[in-house]
Amino acid sequence: MKLAVIPGDGIGVEVTAEALKVLDALVPGVEKTEYDLGARRYLRNGETLTDEDIASLKEHDVILLGAIGDPRSVPAGVLERGMLLPLRFALDHHVNLRPSKLYPGSATPLKEPGEIDFVVVREGTEGLYTGNGGAIRVGTPHEMGTETSVNTRYGVERVVRDAFARATSRRGKLTLVHKTNVLVNAGGLWQRTVDEVAPEFPEVEVDYCHIDAATIYMVTDPSRFDVIVTDNLFGDIITDLAAAVTGGIGTAASGNIDASGTNPSMFEPVHGSAPDIAGQGKADPTAAILSVALLLRHVGKDAEADRVEAAVEADLASRGDTEIVTAEVGDRIVATVSA
Ligand code: NAD
Ligand code: IPM
Ligand code: MN
Repeated sequence: MKLAVIPGDGIGVEVTAEALKVLDALVPGVEKTEYDLGARRYLRNGETLTDEDIASLKEHDVILLGAIGDPRSVPAGVLERGMLLPLRFALDHHVNLRPSKLYPGSATPLKEPGEIDFVVVREGTEGLYTGNGGAIRVGTPHEMGTETSVNTRYGVERVVRDAFARATSRRGKLTLVHKTNVLVNAGGLWQRTVDEVAPEFPEVEVDYCHIDAATIYMVTDPSRFDVIVTDNLFGDIITDLAAAVTGGIGTAASGNIDASGTNPSMFEPVHGSAPDIAGQGKADPTAAILSVALLLRHVGKDAEADRVEAAVEADLASRGDTEIVTAEVGDRIVATVSA
């Protein structure tokens, strides 16, 4: 397995180190290439992501990313729009897969959470993220800024199909989350696509929620969800909420997947570089470690992925109220998977 590693910035570096410990314990001899993409390189030479970087990353089987972003030294958007999103777009990471599972003992803020086990299939290459917009009369009282949401039938249909397929191998329920009562153009396209693909998956029950109501149910009745399919921005927002109700943002993993298999898929925590806690050794590396489990499953190493997930489950169950020490969590998971 040829693995590209992008530790990135802030706690990205800290949690990636733990994730790699776990990977090394399970799969010795992975060929790794580290990339210094992120704030340090940008501040050194102004580069965010070059064509050479993309070509070189493409030579790997999979990519592991920590997180990028350093709001104290790099203006918002420079790395997000200059490095992370171009990477997801260049590698056609259309399925942004974000599972949420409440493990026993996890620190959920919900009093009666019920069983929470769903996946969000977030579209990853379109929507409001494409940079299709602009600003005029900047700094004047008549300033105007626009971002236009791009939704193509091709782009929507491929993630809708992926979500239906995932529902068939899970509990057979698909929920489209959108805002069809206001966003009639994009929403209409999404709803019609779901309606037209549905007959190919007769065993899947199809549901719909507006995004605002979906945030209610995520807190009051999260067990109603099995597979959620949604656009790029709604998916971004609802997966931070999903993380919060299932034990914290430090436990939520994701995969940026090119389902065609043409380009390497990229696995990363849902969270960012967390400048507020960076450098203190107290970031939870669980999300990064569970991202390794998703990565292992992606490359067909299901038994190893199961071991990582079981070790995380045991670790979460044994934590209680103890403070998180990043390296200790990694060490405990390594000890369990190596036992
Ligand atoms: P964030 O996810 O970094 O942090 C939000 C909150 O969650 C903070 O209070 C943080 O301390 C906490 N948190 C996050 N990860 C944690 C962990 N593993 N353990 C414990 N607590 C954790 O979001 P933000 O503050 O909005 O963004 C910070 C920077 O990260 C920004 O530059 C943003 O653009 C970037 N970002 C990058 C990615 C990515 O690279 N994939 C994702 C999200 C945000
Ligand atoms: C995420 C992040 C990114 C996103 C940002 C940093 C561009 O929030 O991976 O969830 O919005 O996709
Ligand atoms: Mn996000």
